[in-house]
Amino acid sequence: MATLVNKRILLGITGGIAAYKSPDLVRRLREGGAEVRCVLTRAAAEFITPLTLHAVSDQPVYQNLFGEQPTSEVVSGGEAKAMEHIELARWADAVVVAPASADFIARLAQGRADDLLTTLCLAADAPVAIAPAMNQQMWQNPATQSNVETLRRNGLHLFGPGDGSQACGEVGPGRMLEPVDIARLTAGLFESGELEGLGVVITAGPTWEAIDPVRGITNKSSGKMGYAIAAAAAEAGARVTLISGPTALADPDRVKVVRVASAQEMYDAVHTQVHGAQVFIAAAAVADYRPVAPATTKIKKKSEHLTLELVRTPDILASVAALTPAPFAVGFAAETENVEANARTKLAAKKVDLIAGNLVGVPDRGFEAEDNGLLLVEATGVTELPIQPKTKLARALIHHVAQRLAARRGQTRERA
Ligand code: CTP
Repeated sequence: MATLVNKRILLGITGGIAAYKSPDLVRRLREGGAEVRCVLTRAAAEFITPLTLHAVSDQPVYQNLFGEQPTSEVVSGGEAKAMEHIELARWADAVVVAPASADFIARLAQGRADDLLTTLCLAADAPVAIAPAMNQQMWQNPATQSNVETLRRNGLHLFGPGDGSQACGEVGPGRMLEPVDIARLTAGLFESGELEGLGVVITAGPTWEAIDPVRGITNKSSGKMGYAIAAAAAEAGARVTLISGPTALADPDRVKVVRVASAQEMYDAVHTQVHGAQVFIAAAAVADYRPVAPATTKIKKKSEHLTLELVRTPDILASVAALTPAPFAVGFAAETENVEANARTKLAAKKVDLIAGNLVGVPDRGFEAEDNGLLLVEATGVTELPIQPKTKLARALIHHVAQRLAARRGQTRERA
């Protein structure tokens, strides 16, 4: 089943009686795990109040293109921050316009940007879907049909409309789909199917190397990037196994999660799971050293100095890249400087297909941050994935890997 967990949905609402269903749609999207922000056109505000949408979404509601404040800033005492429209477009994992009126569809088909919602639809790099709602004559009018055809050709997704009795008393096509169906179709927007039928093994999070039964060596990895990659791989249709060090994160949907603590446990779990997998992604921040001999009882403070003797842990990524046949192997390089050069060194040293280099140790990026950027370093060149939310970044990485695998399969077919 497709999932809305952790998705950011920008819900556009245009003027139509079906706007009364919008609060229910917000509720259903949120029940699925999505974060929802509403944008109202001027006409929509005649049918539904921003206050209602703010209450059900628990997020700011946006209405104006120029000099706007989110409405909730006005209605809820100012806790929400104003956000530029481009930032709002970037925020969205998907834009869904429901109900989409005939007028809105016409303006979108012309590529107009004369209000906030049309501007956001133009500025968004995320998928855009419309759920038309109008009188059956208006829907069947050739002008509307040709506008819809234009939007479809431009890659917009069409949800419905349904057929049946209408608010105006007529019967025919043009009814907005029910919120439950729109929520289901919205979840489906994230299913790319690019890795259909393939096995993907991913490591994530920190490791814990015991010093004694209560103390250990660990690091600041939150696991967010690896978990986001696992979710993105599942959305791409892969069979995903996530081997996770200790994190506070919930298991992603449709992913088999194996929890481990130490680097050795992670190594063992990876080698149990990786056979038959086509992709291995090492996103874990694995300890490079562990105490040689962890104490079996709690170490008491006796002397002024204490020396811990450490020994190298096995390199999981290099060991997987050395298998025959080896899966497409992706490593991460968290660097405080010289990202590309260091990533290139790791690419050669570990004999992997791709190193995703990222800058850590700067505010708002890296381990604990929500956003990150990656430099994908391969033997053939470098691709930059710009700074963006980790969930989007993960999808971009999976898309990149899927393209590499498809190219490889193409080459294999040519040789055959
Ligand atoms: N890795 C691994 N097993 C280890 C250590 C690292 O699989 N024992 C993987 C990580 O998951 C990551 C990549 O290797 O994908 C990181 O490479 P590494 O050279 O270990 O990075 P650093 O520890 O940052 O290296 P250095 O301190 O040498 O720069």
